[in-house]
Amino acid sequence: MTLYTHASMTARVAIVGATGYAGGELARILLRHPEVRVVAAVSRSKQGMPLREAQPHLYDAPDALRIGGDVGDAEVVFTTLPAGEAAKMASAWLAEGRRVIDVGSDFRLRDAGLYEKYYRYAHPAPELLAEAVYGLTEFVRPRLRGARLVANPGCYPTATLLALGPAAKHGLITDDVIVDAKSGVSGAGHSVDEAYLFGTLDSSVRAYGVPRHRHSPEIAQGIADIGGRQPRLTFTPHLVPMTRGLLATCYAPLRDGVTGRQVAEAYAATYAAEPFVRVVPSFPATKNAFGSNWCLVHAIVDEENRRLVAVGALDNLVKGAAGSAVQNMNALLGFPEELGLGALPLWP
Ligand SMILES: NC(=O)c1ccc[n+]([C@@H]2O[C@H](COP(=O)([O-])OP(=O)(O)OC[C@H]3O[C@@H](n4cnc5c(N)ncnc54)[C@H](OP(=O)(O)O)[C@@H]3O)[C@@H](O)[C@H]2O)c1
Repeated sequence: MTLYTHASMTARVAIVGATGYAGGELARILLRHPEVRVVAAVSRSKQGMPLREAQPHLYDAPDALRIGGDVGDAEVVFTTLPAGEAAKMASAWLAEGRRVIDVGSDFRLRDAGLYEKYYRYAHPAPELLAEAVYGLTEFVRPRLRGARLVANPGCYPTATLLALGPAAKHGLITDDVIVDAKSGVSGAGHSVDEAYLFGTLDSSVRAYGVPRHRHSPEIAQGIADIGGRQPRLTFTPHLVPMTRGLLATCYAPLRDGVTGRQVAEAYAATYAAEPFVRVVPSFPATKNAFGSNWCLVHAIVDEENRRLVAVGALDNLVKGAAGSAVQNMNALLGFPEELGLGALPLWP
């Protein structure tokens, strides 16, 4: 397929999982992307229904764009499916010359054994794991150009790795990492479950998935990729009563002699040219990123305890899912990375 020099052609894309939350967010972004045409919206339910009816925020999607069962003539296939589903389909699309960007978790881990341990399934296409580019754009940009298969990072790993990445990259912290993270309920998808009812969630916060949340091995792999050393990781996610938003507060001991100034310089240097990571001067709130593709990062030195405290805040459906997937598509195809992703956060 063509890799674009910008100002050339329109890319034809499909969204598989188009009736879900991440699929709906992808459609919201891609339908306004100046160099993209959404040619297929796929799911099992709502077959034949116009996408604009299946997803009520997409009022002006073309009437002809209906929920269907195949990806048509798409050159790029985005998958926003439950764990294990994209891996059953990706090989066929790749064999047809299409590019695949999986917003789910099927290609994020390089060790197939970890899928059995954490996801409880035998990976259907383990031969693809070595090829998949783990799309934490800011740290792998050169590998994205022309990639066939991109594993979009999970929402918690994105906030965590962007918060800790500069410290890991510059060797400022030891391997003992604790991540305390919070997510809004849209992180769990659109299916109905007692745990996500308003009456269950409202006025309440709880931890879950400890100590073997599915994102733990992904975060550990990501820190090792950036810093070269496998961390000893404790990751505790929490569900909080809001719709969107994710905050990761990360703690790691500082190496001897590391100063606050070194930390500040590492963060400033790592993200100086990044369009979507902002190093902010105080602790960010999730709402500061609401609806945007930004990840807001703030890192301080707790000198008394010789610990780094680094926070990442993002919108789980944008930088934590659909926005970063579009950013990866832009990098893959050779489009300017910000294309289609210019929305500022909503406030208040
Ligand atoms: N929500 C987030 O914040 C977020 C962030 C990062 C990554 N992710 C990942 O993105 C994926 C989707 O998450 P979500 O929150 O959007 O979940 P969701 O709201 O439950 O959506 C899942 C979608 O997949 C479709 N689907 C399921 N099995 C299918 C199949 N075999 N063939 C075609 N379509 C199928 C569902 O529609 P039908 O049931 O009608 O088929 C639905 O459209 C998950 O892997 C999740 O981990 C989500």
